[in-house]
Amino acid sequence: MAALTGRRPLIAGNWKMNLDHLQSIAFVQKLAWTLRDAAFDRAGVEVAVFPPFTDLRSVQTLVSSDDLPIAFGGQDLSAHDSGAYTGEVSGAFLAALGCRYVLIGHSERRQYHGETDALIAEKVAAAHRHGVVPIICVGETAEDLEQHGPSHVPAAQLRVALEGAAAGSEVVVAYEPVWAIGSGTAATSAQAQQVCAALREVIAEVLGADAAATTRILYGGSVKAANIAGFMAEADVDGALVGGASLQLDEFASIARFPSHVGTV
Ligand code: PGA
Repeated sequence: MAALTGRRPLIAGNWKMNLDHLQSIAFVQKLAWTLRDAAFDRAGVEVAVFPPFTDLRSVQTLVSSDDLPIAFGGQDLSAHDSGAYTGEVSGAFLAALGCRYVLIGHSERRQYHGETDALIAEKVAAAHRHGVVPIICVGETAEDLEQHGPSHVPAAQLRVALEGAAAGSEVVVAYEPVWAIGSGTAATSAQAQQVCAALREVIAEVLGADAAATTRILYGGSVKAANIAGFMAEADVDGALVGGASLQLDEFASIARFPSHVGTV
């Protein structure tokens, strides 16, 4: 499994447009308690949450004052650093709030906000300019899958997005088939493995063999406690990007404790 490769598994919760700043405080506090009670393996697994922008300051204050084992990041950032871009949020601001990560190119951004691969590459560059690790989201629709097979579209998306990556800077990749997001029907672990392996080859081509060996590739799309162990048993799956289940405390904590249920599938 991925843990044997030395890549520290990452379990990331994408809250999407849910939970205001007060709710975020209650949720993160309870998540930290739940993980502590369950003897969560802080060194072995990294947990990160992606709240709405308006929650980030509250989450930062809580995490830093209590030294909680939870990283956090934004769900998007601007390709620009500052200026007349009403409604946008700079990577500089995310960095100033202690965001370790930022999601880039989530399928909902691509679909509802017209984000192109070229814009996503610019956003990857912006994240790296500010020392924030981009989590580059790629994935095919059901039609793409039918027309082009499993890895063609995500591999092409990743190839363009990585043009924005700064040499030697960390990236994380999230493979999220659009047909699996929010549908309750996850990819099989074999399907996830096949595409994640193809994405690792793209990383090797664009960023080199060392980057390919160390870059974490997550699977996302209807991940839950009942299927995480199967994904994590795959050689090229290094974690999960979790949407709906990240808002259910016990479910998300159980996903984060996947090492205790690997072998149970
Ligand atoms: P889901 O969403 O877990 O609800 O399918 C995943 C995502 O959109 O990142």
